[in-house]
Amino acid sequence: MCGIVGYIGHREAYDILVKGLHRLEYRGYDSAGVAMINPEGKLNIYKHTGKVAELEAFCQSKDITGTVGIAHTRWATHGEPSDVNAHPHYSTNGKIAIVHNGTIENYNVLKQALMQHGCEFVSQTDTEVVVKLIEYIQSNNNCTLLDAVREALNQVIGAYAIAVIDSDCPDTVIAARKSSPLVIGIGDDETFIASDASPIIDYTNRVVYLRDNEIAIITRDEPLKVITTDNEESTVDIQTLRMSVSQLEKGGYPHFMLKEIFEQTNTIFDCIRGRIAADGTAIKLSGVSDHPDRFINAGRILIVACGTSWHAGLIGARLIENFARIPTRVEYASEFRYANPVIRPDDVVIAISQSGETADTLAAIKLAKEQGAFVYGVCNVVGSSIARETHTGTYIHVGPEIGVASTKAFTGQVTVLAMLALAIGQLKGTVSKEQLTEVARSLQSLPALITETLKLNPQIEKLSATYTYVRNFLYLGRGYNYPSALEGALKLKEISYIHAEGYPAAEMKHGPIALIDKEMPTVVIAPDDDLHEKVISNIQQVKARGGSVIAIVTKGDTTIPAIADHVLEIPPVPEAISPVIAAIPLQLLAYHIAIMKGCNVDMPRNLAKSVTVE
Ligand code: F6R
Repeated sequence: MCGIVGYIGHREAYDILVKGLHRLEYRGYDSAGVAMINPEGKLNIYKHTGKVAELEAFCQSKDITGTVGIAHTRWATHGEPSDVNAHPHYSTNGKIAIVHNGTIENYNVLKQALMQHGCEFVSQTDTEVVVKLIEYIQSNNNCTLLDAVREALNQVIGAYAIAVIDSDCPDTVIAARKSSPLVIGIGDDETFIASDASPIIDYTNRVVYLRDNEIAIITRDEPLKVITTDNEESTVDIQTLRMSVSQLEKGGYPHFMLKEIFEQTNTIFDCIRGRIAADGTAIKLSGVSDHPDRFINAGRILIVACGTSWHAGLIGARLIENFARIPTRVEYASEFRYANPVIRPDDVVIAISQSGETADTLAAIKLAKEQGAFVYGVCNVVGSSIARETHTGTYIHVGPEIGVASTKAFTGQVTVLAMLALAIGQLKGTVSKEQLTEVARSLQSLPALITETLKLNPQIEKLSATYTYVRNFLYLGRGYNYPSALEGALKLKEISYIHAEGYPAAEMKHGPIALIDKEMPTVVIAPDDDLHEKVISNIQQVKARGGSVIAIVTKGDTTIPAIADHVLEIPPVPEAISPVIAAIPLQLLAYHIAIMKGCNVDMPRNLAKSVTVE
């Protein structure tokens, strides 16, 4: 949430900053701003409500010169989206500018104290408090910008990734982080700062991931220096990015979401690559094989996650209980962290997060670690905070996910959780060789099955026209596909703004059935599995009440097509991994309905990817 970019070097900063903001726009898009120090040493700040394109239009006739600058795209937390609340925020003397991602919890206390010293505020944001505090410290203590920033950071409570420039020291950018991500790109005589690596990869693949409580001092023509907020020198660990620019572009698709749906053939291939023996008889996950005792002796597994990742977690829990026979619970990270949970030293906590930056999930694993649990990460973004904070884990390797609605990350998460369940089962001897081989070989065939399932696209596009203006949807599924129903409903509501609810199919008669009439269609995920007969009864119950049914069935099913209004046929696949295949038509249905409604599927209202605030 909120994207920050910074640059210092030999090129004009503005173009780099704005290009970077476009790359980070998925993190928030209610306003944007830039600040550059021009060759005369003047700090120019431009900000505008709306998307980055509106900022660019606003800047057209402005002085945008300067080889040092910072920029921001906002997802509002404190104060409505407006020009004045947009970042960068600046000091009263107009010399210092700051961009910030995160939330300052004690901003009000600090604000009151500064106001008592005569400080005036123009915005409602927590961020303005930080820059005014830096200015106050600098002028009262007559100290350097670095010392003032460090002292200010020692006074604030909360989460931050910041970048600060000062027209009195135009050759320096100060950046710092605590619980919000920040990456520094090291080029030749130039340095880049960003919330993630996507704005940096065009210029350099050498990056430093700042750690919590670190401050980077980026000075023109000098090597990067990093200290802690306690003023201790830190090591600068330069890593090489493995990301290509083409992964960050739409590649001919009209939207990132559609590109990411269609990419799943390849992303699942990348996800399983090297992790399943060629003949399907063994799973190789170093996160499990390097820590056998942790899994053999695990009394319990706790899965923590949010949103779509939580849905993947529900499927994961079933897979783990089924194949590894370890009691497994799934918790919303936001609830878990404040629930005073009982965590035991023999617990294994699995954190699932596409971004690896979700604030609640990060806090949940910090809590679990403090209490002695072994923490396993299932992340997508390499080098992300959760990936680094966990003891070990498995990357899903699906490449950058830019559409705000998670698609390929969900199928990657379920695939990794299936491999994880099998790997633990293999280690503990709770899964038979035959069972393991059957599921492992099906995992190997997923890319081909996804390609086949994607052929449903034209049928789903046509079908979507019938349902574009419906106001409510019900999604039903059972067993492994109950979470698929939750995920299908979430996809639809977040991008089309149609109210949708997911339920375990049998629960429908305990309440939601009252909602069913001919205005409320029901999507039923009904592949050929152990619960198939039961789902057929649930469909009958919907039909008996005049509701229309869109059913996702296994090819060859003859019963459901006779009763449902529309059927979407998916290829046969073992029950345990059927949610990967069932996800595809659900994603396409949500996409096409949203497009027909004229919604911005890649940047739905009020949402942002990478939820780095509580
Ligand atoms: C929904 C969606 C969100 C995320 C959630 C967790 O499409 O994308 O619900 O799944 O914000 O994000 P991560 O996985 O990055 O922790």
